[in-house]
Amino acid sequence: MGARTVDVFEAIRTRRSIRKYKEKPVEKDKLLKIIEAARLAPSTLNRQPWSFVIVTDSVVKEKLRSTCNQDWFAPVIIVECAFPEKAFKAQDTPCGRPDDDPCPF
Ligand SMILES: Cc1cc2nc3c(=O)[nH]c(=O)nc-3n(C[C@H](O)[C@H](O)[C@H](O)COP(=O)(O)O)c2cc1C
Repeated sequence: MGARTVDVFEAIRTRRSIRKYKEKPVEKDKLLKIIEAARLAPSTLNRQPWSFVIVTDSVVKEKLRSTCNQDWFAPVIIVECAFPEKAFKAQDTPCGRPDDDPCPF
């Protein structure tokens, strides 16, 4: 992917939901950039309690499609797997903050 940059507000303003897809495979560098953007999302204590699986195999995609009862046929599916046991839980500390981040109240 080139070094094209887009103003954030312009990207928000012009984005739209896509419901029809081309057969064309998505380039690996684009997929990696998407994953990199997702990976940079903030999480409590930076635990990042998730992983991402890029699915291009047609058999696996079909299983996902039918399991999710969807009628979409995207060339690539990115599955985000959540790991709740790895995530920080608000009830872990009295005021819902990490132990090394003292409650200010
Ligand atoms: C949580 C969530 C679930 C959605 N589920 C569907 C869906 O099942 N099918 C669908 O066609 N669009 C779905 N959408 C897309 C919305 O219909 C779409 O965002 C809305 O119509 C506005 O259109 P736009 O995204 O093109 O601006 C979903 C959007 C969100 C945020």
